[in-house]
Amino acid sequence: MIEVENLVKKFGDATAVDGISFKVRKGEIFGFLGPNGAGKTTTINILVGLSLPSSGIAKIAGLDVTKHPIGIRKRLGIAAQAAYFDHHLSIKDNLFYHGLLYGLPRKELKKRVDTALQWSKLEKYRNKKFHQLSGGMQRRLVVARAMLSDPEILLLDEPTTGLDPQTRRQVWEFIKNLKEAGKTVLLTTHYMEEADLLCDRIAIIDHGRIIASGTPNELKKMLDKNIVIDITLNPEVAGDHIKRDLDIISGVNYVRMESNRIKIGVVDDAIVEQVLKSLIIRTKISEINIIRPTLDDVFLHLTGREIR
Ligand SMILES: Nc1ncnc2c1ncn2[C@@H]1O[C@H](COP(=O)(O)OP(=O)(O)OP(=O)(O)O)[C@@H](O)[C@H]1O
Ligand SMILES: [Mg+2]
Repeated sequence: MIEVENLVKKFGDATAVDGISFKVRKGEIFGFLGPNGAGKTTTINILVGLSLPSSGIAKIAGLDVTKHPIGIRKRLGIAAQAAYFDHHLSIKDNLFYHGLLYGLPRKELKKRVDTALQWSKLEKYRNKKFHQLSGGMQRRLVVARAMLSDPEILLLDEPTTGLDPQTRRQVWEFIKNLKEAGKTVLLTTHYMEEADLLCDRIAIIDHGRIIASGTPNELKKMLDKNIVIDITLNPEVAGDHIKRDLDIISGVNYVRMESNRIKIGVVDDAIVEQVLKSLIIRTKISEINIIRPTLDDVFLHLTGREIR
C-alpha cells in the first residue's frame, strides 16, 4: 500500500531524509520509530503531498504521490502531529466541515460524524470545543477525524506523544481496532513499548536513515544472546568510579547509570559473573534483575544513544 524508494529530502544544506526505502503491506501496522528530528514527519509530509521529495520515489496504492496528489488524498486518512481544529466550532462541526472538504455528501456525512463520535467515545462532548477536551480525548478525535472518509490507509504521526500511561493505553486499543477493521497503518513514535506492542513491522530511523527494520522480535533477535543486568545499588556508595570499572570489562556493551540504578548490557551470560564481581568489591547491591533486551536496548546498541 505504501512504497518508498531511496527517498531524499533536503532543506538547504541539511538532509532531513537521507535515502530511505520501505514498504507497508495491506492490513499491517508499520512503525517508524526514531528520536526527535529523525525525519519521520518529513517523510509523512511527502507521502501526503504536503512536501516534494528532493529525489526518490514514494507511492501510495501504486500511485506516485507527486503525480496523483488528489487520487492519493482520497485513500489516506491523516492524523498529523500538529493537528488543526477550529476553536470557534464544536467538535461535531469540526468533523462535519472536514468531511465537506473531503467532498463527502451532507447526508452521508451526518451519519459518519455520529459514527466517528461514537467510535472515539466522544458523543457526550459533541458540542464542546476542541480545547475543552483532555489531551487523550483530543488525540482520539484527531484519529477519528482521519477515519471520517473511511480511508484504506491511515498515517498517524505520534498518536500518543504527551499522553499519560492510562490514556496512551486507550489510544493503543483504538489503533488495534483500526487494524481489525482492515486498515493499513503507518505510525510514528518515540516509544519503544508502543512500537513493540502495536506494530507488525518497525523501521528504526535516525538522522534521516533507516538503521534497522523488521518485526519487533526480529529486531530483538539482533541481540539474541545479549543480556541486560538491571542493578540497584546501596545509594551511599554509588558513584562514577563504579561505571568506569564496568566499562573496561570486555563483553560489556554499555553501562547506563542513573543515580544508584545501573543498566548493563552484556554480550552473553558468561559476562554476568565478572560484572557482579567488579561490583561487589566496590559496593552493596540491593536489587538485581537479569532481563532480555528490549527495543530500547536495540536502539542503544545501534546508535550508542538512548532514544529520548
Ligand atoms: N520545513 C523545514 N525547513 C527546514 N528544516 C526542516 C523543515 N522541516 C523539518 N526540518 C528538519 O528536518 C529534520 C527532520 O525533522 P522531522 O520533523 O521530520 O523529524 P521527526 O522525526 O518528525 O521529529 P519529532 O519526533 O520531533 O517529531 C529536523 O532536523 C528538522 O529540523
Ligand atoms: Mg515529527
